[in-house]
Amino acid sequence: MIKQLFATHPISATGHVAAGEPIEGGLGGEASLKRVLTARHLVMLGIGAVIGAGIFVLTGTAAAQFAGPALVLSFIFAGIACALAGLCYAEFAAMLPVSGSAYSYTYATLGEVVAWFVGWNLVLEYLFAASTVAVGWSGYFNELLKMLSGLLGIPLALPASLASAPFGFNDAGHLIATGHIFNLPAVAIVAAIGWLCYRGISESATVNAVIVAIKVIVILVFLAVTYQYINPAHWHPFIPANEGGTHYGWPGILRAASLVFFAYIGFDAVSTAAGEAKNPQRDMPIGILGSLVICTILYILMAAALTGLAPYKELNTAEPVATALNYVLGTLHAGTAGFTVLTALKGFVVLGALLGLSSVILVMMMGQPRIFYTMSQDGLLPKPFGRVHKKYRTPHLGTVIVGVIAAVLAGLFPVDVLGDVVSMGTLLAFATVCIGVLVLRKTRPELPRSFRVPVPWIICPLGAIVCLGLFWQVFAVRWYLLISWIIIGFLIYGFYGFRHSRLRARNASSVPQE
Ligand code: ALA
Repeated sequence: MIKQLFATHPISATGHVAAGEPIEGGLGGEASLKRVLTARHLVMLGIGAVIGAGIFVLTGTAAAQFAGPALVLSFIFAGIACALAGLCYAEFAAMLPVSGSAYSYTYATLGEVVAWFVGWNLVLEYLFAASTVAVGWSGYFNELLKMLSGLLGIPLALPASLASAPFGFNDAGHLIATGHIFNLPAVAIVAAIGWLCYRGISESATVNAVIVAIKVIVILVFLAVTYQYINPAHWHPFIPANEGGTHYGWPGILRAASLVFFAYIGFDAVSTAAGEAKNPQRDMPIGILGSLVICTILYILMAAALTGLAPYKELNTAEPVATALNYVLGTLHAGTAGFTVLTALKGFVVLGALLGLSSVILVMMMGQPRIFYTMSQDGLLPKPFGRVHKKYRTPHLGTVIVGVIAAVLAGLFPVDVLGDVVSMGTLLAFATVCIGVLVLRKTRPELPRSFRVPVPWIICPLGAIVCLGLFWQVFAVRWYLLISWIIIGFLIYGFYGFRHSRLRARNASSVPQE
């Protein structure tokens, strides 16, 4: 029994994959995913998944409540954790170019039951992240409607009851009703993006590339225009004295790091597109590490800019970028050139945030059905998740199921609860991938690796330790959510996955493995 639970998926060296050549067979001869993505697409997918609510929504709280101007250090710490995990993902994704990401890597190294655990936690990362970011999108959308109302003189903004979550958790962790009906814009954006994912990976990747270009331009313009308004006095003291708990000082920097970790989530989503990459051996490391480097640089610059433009205590809002601009506008005279430029920049930022958040939802909603697709092919999830649309060549049924669940979550729950759940699931997956690289180096040293983690005996354990350390910061507060999730997951595995596992069936009938 124990042996069956920890049976590993056989892997063989993957030959070089030419453009358009599928290496994953479809179920029973059905259509399989299409290899169309280039290195540029993959970097764009990474940036598309990464830059979103983390920078446009969460930075304000992280600076105002935990780190102060030292938020820059929090971004550097979280960036280091992600860089360590990113190196491990790059080795795996180039070696095993399949759609299942950390789930597939774990199946090949630590066995079925651990793979199920990781796959189940990846649902927290992808599906819940799509919902979390949709809630952030709804906030910026309402901001846009308010700005348009002011410009056009027509009341366009939605009432709070139609743009907020009807449920939340109080400090004691109990579910409470907020009195609102549901978050309509959050549901609408998930539905629109779900439709796009249903239509096809090329369409999705192209739309993503356009959005990413705009979002990066918005950030660069913001940095260039606001540079002259930075007041270095706002950076002093750089690390505000600790006021108790994780309120400033080094404990605050670490707590903020666990919060802004959310901002980096998504670079690993590139690995779920490995089954659709033209040249995964070369391009997966470029996609994963390239997007991570670009985003880290932008984040550090943004954190420095925001805390330099306004006193950190002023940034405690859901739109910290707009808040920093409002603060500077308050110091300028209306009618001056600077005032006009910054007012226009504010509109530009709201638009950029809306697009930026959309691309995160897009990549997350592309990633989740592809992980389900792989789990279904392994027999751990029902067959509909493994079906591919004949015309669009997408895992369409999985996409619809993911879209409906993500829309319901986005409509009902607030951003903070969803965000913490996302970070816990992701950090566990990252730590497992770090350990998996070492295991496979030991068990299958002969496999060709087009990218190798340097000094693995240091990088891999360090990556796992740092990720688990950040995980603990969140788990200590929200442990009841994760434990409930894990129990549900193991019940599903016990009643379905364990009985339908193809690997177990194959092992039991002793059919020679490939
Ligand atoms: N990194 C993504 C974001 O910040 C999840 O929205």
